Amino acid sequence: MNKTFPKDFLWGASISAHQTEGAYATDGKGLSVQDTRPRDNHEIADFTVAVDHYHHYKEDIALLAELGIKIFRFSIAWTRIFPHGRGEINQKGLDHYSDVIDELLKYHIQPYITLSHFDLPQALEDEGGWSNRATVTAFKEYAETLFKAYGDRVTHWLTINEPNIMLLVDRKILGKEIPLNEKYQQFHHLMMAEKYAFDRCHTLVPGGQIGPVPNISLVYPATSKPEDNQAALYFNSVRNWAYLDFACFGRYNAVFSDYLCQNNIDITFAPGDADLMKTALPDFVAMNFYTTVTVEQPTTTGDMKNGISDQQSEDIMERGFYKGFTNTYLKKNAFNWTIDPLGLKTTLQTLYDRYHLPIIITENGLGAEDHLTDDEKIHDEYRIDYLAQHTEQCLAAIHAGVELIGYSPWSAIDLISVHEGIKKRYGFIYVDRTDADEKAQKRYKKDSFYWYQKLIEEG
Ligand code: BG6
Repeated sequence: MNKTFPKDFLWGASISAHQTEGAYATDGKGLSVQDTRPRDNHEIADFTVAVDHYHHYKEDIALLAELGIKIFRFSIAWTRIFPHGRGEINQKGLDHYSDVIDELLKYHIQPYITLSHFDLPQALEDEGGWSNRATVTAFKEYAETLFKAYGDRVTHWLTINEPNIMLLVDRKILGKEIPLNEKYQQFHHLMMAEKYAFDRCHTLVPGGQIGPVPNISLVYPATSKPEDNQAALYFNSVRNWAYLDFACFGRYNAVFSDYLCQNNIDITFAPGDADLMKTALPDFVAMNFYTTVTVEQPTTTGDMKNGISDQQSEDIMERGFYKGFTNTYLKKNAFNWTIDPLGLKTTLQTLYDRYHLPIIITENGLGAEDHLTDDEKIHDEYRIDYLAQHTEQCLAAIHAGVELIGYSPWSAIDLISVHEGIKKRYGFIYVDRTDADEKAQKRYKKDSFYWYQKLIEEG
């Protein structure tokens, strides 16, 4: 059996706009919820300068070309195109991404563009954000604008980054908690926005392909106790399958529906939703994978404090159905994230078995504190180790019959972690700044850069 990756495998690297670009109010950009997000910890960097990718994009893309990537996943900041979420187009914003796309194509790197990565325009948030149906319409118009502007050069699109994480860890990502009832109305709106994007992409982009991009963490039961298995069933549905069943099958997952029912949550549909749900479908599934989750049955509600189990948190935010459990078979990284490479293979197999669509991994990586040595090197062997173990499982999944078409890890360059600043780095390219000191953001290639370059070359 051939033990190398297919020749046309899409090796890539990923970033998002708000975590890299900086220039938060430059060239007419409006504010997003990430610019205004209240922070618990003011000692970590915010997104005002980030790693100044907005001004360094040519240098960054040249480095990525040297790395050898075939695709680059990045997001467009909605507030550069429509500073207030809708209305008049900001031409400078539109031109900026046109230049970025041309720069990538110059090096034969194919853009994979995420329409929105956690950065809803603040002006729309002020009108109720994703709770307000009008945001779906604004998103549709925004997506149409991008498809029309770039569809001549960009064929591959991703919808809304990790709607599941946005809703499940709302306070960390959005800086506020969303009441349960409102949260699942937001779910419906986010999913319908995605449906419009599928539909408009297929209509407006010649040969356009588009997929959803959830964060998938397979959920294990803590023991073989039937009750723990029920807990895992529910959390798998609420965390993972609800989103992909909606996107790929156009239906509410049945276990998720029971969860909504038990929480007395009613969803309001708009006219036409039921039809569009069924007819607008994705071409592939993009998946962000970092970890797996293990849960047990909650014993009493006393186990839960503020909706998070005392014993262990992971992404367990909702009371009553499941309780996080420390899986002693798995190690954790320095930031307390469980590491489970074999879990990636199992996740890929499960996903492929459910949806039978090509899969591309659009995030996977290790957040760690890196150090620039006196001779300007970054010896990040821990990251190489993580990526080697995970790519090995990608290969195993391919040989087990999964149609995995690409791997685009997080992240191309160092960026500001969503809630832990720049001390937690992910990139192949080190950016010299700290949380407290922006410095000149000089770029350096890490050891992992050379490791990934070789993997791409040799497969
Ligand atoms: C993903 C997000 O959930 O996790 C990224 O799409 C994020 O935006 C990544 O950076 C890692 O999380 P964190 O909290 O370490 O930045």
